[in-house]
Amino acid sequence: MKEGQSSRTAEAAAALRANHFKNAENPVFSDPFAFDLTSKGWQKLLTTPLTVKLINSPVLNRTLGLLTGQVVGRSRYAEDLLQQAIEKKITQYVLVGAGLDSFILRQAQQYPNLKIFEVDHPDTQATKQRKLQRFGEIPKNVEFVAIDFEKESIADALSRSSFKQDKPAFFSWLGTTHYLEPQTTLNTLKSIAKIAAPKSEVVLDYSIDHRELSGVERFGSLFVSQFTRFLKEPLKGQFRPKLFHDSVNHMGFEVAEDLSGDGLSHRYFNTRADHIRHTIATHMLHLRLIK
Ligand SMILES: C[S@@+](CC[C@H](N)C(=O)[O-])C[C@H]1O[C@@H](n2cnc3c(N)ncnc32)[C@H](O)[C@@H]1O
Repeated sequence: MKEGQSSRTAEAAAALRANHFKNAENPVFSDPFAFDLTSKGWQKLLTTPLTVKLINSPVLNRTLGLLTGQVVGRSRYAEDLLQQAIEKKITQYVLVGAGLDSFILRQAQQYPNLKIFEVDHPDTQATKQRKLQRFGEIPKNVEFVAIDFEKESIADALSRSSFKQDKPAFFSWLGTTHYLEPQTTLNTLKSIAKIAAPKSEVVLDYSIDHRELSGVERFGSLFVSQFTRFLKEPLKGQFRPKLFHDSVNHMGFEVAEDLSGDGLSHRYFNTRADHIRHTIATHMLHLRLIK
């Protein structure tokens, strides 16, 4: 991230959710707050008929749809699993790298017994808190924790909050590992393993090492990498699944699921008329702490 600047990729992700909510038939993930949370620039693009038509054209959906598919697919996957965790009486939800995720606006009041921690870079968090003011008071069960993953461990950051180390928690960490050095991602997971109680869960998305991609996906991965460079948040973190699994197993996690891009397309984007699908360049990983 660029020092002193709120995350541009968080704005882009919110814009993709906003466009999906407003324009997709049968949305995979519905986020009615994303439009208000994204930047003025994106709002302008999303209200200009020509760009809206272009962004949602079937031709672009086959390519840009990969970006939309990734952004709405990861949120849907994480919240499906969160729902199951809540049914199993998990009482702590930690949104790591929360960005402009609107869970606290959509659902915090529905789950008053769920303590929600938004953990994010202080620059992104300050901008989000300013934007949240227009929606009224922040629900009492929400707490903000500032962190720079490159400089501090999540265990240290959460120890400044009311996070309970003896109670299982559900961590979602979406759209972030791609922008961190692989070692930073591994250190953060190690830190979660240290601070969280057994039966805690982690859901994250990660980029597949580009050497394992081919054809249009390799080209797409290159395009996204150039685009994020332009947004001053270059993609740095890629993993080979098998090696990644070995590393997290050593930390005390079991891999409950590693869902490939095709698996996500099959689960959430099957036979969509608009051709949106999930890229195969990223996977969803669901971990459970056994220690
Ligand atoms: C693409 S956004 C994803 C936001 C959100 N999870 C979503 O799915 O829309 C990436 C997030 O990672 C955060 N981030 C990136 N680098 C970070 C760092 N070094 N420390 C803390 N947060 C960081 C940004 O502030 C931003 O919120």
